[in-house]
Amino acid sequence: MTSNQLDKKSEAWSALFSEPMSELVKRYTSSVFFDKRMWRADIAGSLAHAQMLSAQGIIGANDLAAIQKGMAQITEEIESERFEWKLDLEDVHLNIEARLTQLVGDAGKRLHTGRSRNDQVATDVRLWLREEIDTLAPLLRQMQMALIEVADQNVDTILPGFTHMQVAQPVSFAHHLLAYVEMFSRDEHRLADVRKRVNHLPLGAAALAGTSYPLDREMVAKSLGFDGVCQNSLDAVSDRDFAIEFSSFASITMMHVSRLAEEIVLWMSQNFSFIDLADRYCTGSSIMPQKRNPDVAELARGKSGRVVGHLMGLLTLMKGQPLTYNKDNQEDKEPLFDTVDTVRDTLRIMSEMVGGITVKKDAMERAALKGYATATDLADYLVKKGLPFRDAHEVVAHAVKSAIHLGRDLSELPLESLQAFNASIGQDVFEVLTLRGSLNARNVLGGTAPAQVRAQLARHRARLS
Ligand code: ARG
Repeated sequence: MTSNQLDKKSEAWSALFSEPMSELVKRYTSSVFFDKRMWRADIAGSLAHAQMLSAQGIIGANDLAAIQKGMAQITEEIESERFEWKLDLEDVHLNIEARLTQLVGDAGKRLHTGRSRNDQVATDVRLWLREEIDTLAPLLRQMQMALIEVADQNVDTILPGFTHMQVAQPVSFAHHLLAYVEMFSRDEHRLADVRKRVNHLPLGAAALAGTSYPLDREMVAKSLGFDGVCQNSLDAVSDRDFAIEFSSFASITMMHVSRLAEEIVLWMSQNFSFIDLADRYCTGSSIMPQKRNPDVAELARGKSGRVVGHLMGLLTLMKGQPLTYNKDNQEDKEPLFDTVDTVRDTLRIMSEMVGGITVKKDAMERAALKGYATATDLADYLVKKGLPFRDAHEVVAHAVKSAIHLGRDLSELPLESLQAFNASIGQDVFEVLTLRGSLNARNVLGGTAPAQVRAQLARHRARLS
């Protein structure tokens, strides 16, 4: 295309076309208003391609210099928001190429030698996503650090642990928070693994079959920081696994966030009253003056739905697509962009919010004293006295039943009453029935005993430093 032809692409793609594209089709098929966000990647990819073309003697050194000069100006124009994005030019790639040709003439027209928008867009998305991955990784660590800081202050804070949302056994609040650290640490590793498969270069696959020019793809990969080159040109232009894998990572991370968010909402409700959130993370009600709602946590929980939705969207987008590039693929960008934005903002806001929670230790402990959270400890005590576990379980069920009847905790029953259930119960049982006794007893690797929790805290700190 001449620069003039590029400007008027909408009028007709080439001499082959006898009528212009309809306005509706133009709007329907264009992507520039969302894919312009990849402009930096597009320019970086073009510069690496041009350098290689020149090194291989496919374009002249003077062409390369002109392209570099033109791209510097375009960068400047985009950064200062003076660049005029044209819907007529469909996407970020054609917009930048057309401007380049306008600025530097024939050298601009030589840039597309041995390249197609198919390998170009696949390269741009990967480059763009790699940058974003590198900003998300520290946010995952920040999230873990925020949880660790709160955990550090709450190794000896006891709350009821739940199964089936019923009081189960007392646990350290730090232990509870460190469960989320485990989740976000797995997310961090998953992201690093996704990055490996994002970081391969499609450029050089051209439209689908490779190109007749003697390209040095390894050189381009190296200059763009890719770990390797996509080895099959058909796969290179059509593969979007990396975007799906990233969305899977994002969905799992958001699922973790939603679990934490849900607990925050519960803990903040009057029925629990385990924590309080700083006012800056709460909203009021226009009708109920007493309200302080944990909107941020609720929204984070809700936004997990949209990220999972994007994953389903991308899977469905790729399902059944024949090789190779199909225009369907243009639909990969909005879900991917929105996924990145949502995860980034959510991790930021959640780590800030978690870092600033007020822990109501007394309320947690009071709740742990309800619901016979130390019943298992009594059973374990009886096992130590020689009872088989199943018999001990039965004895304690009777004791709990009687305690419920009397409206008391197990620790509030007189020794004689407890001995009526089993004669081997002695005065030392009361130590076992305390919350702290229960915690200390769980001194197994990964258990909630404060000594174990402190060891885990140290391990996480060392890992994150
Ligand atoms: N805007 C397109 C996309 O996002 C670029 C590739 C277009 N290639 C093509 N042959 N129409 O996928």
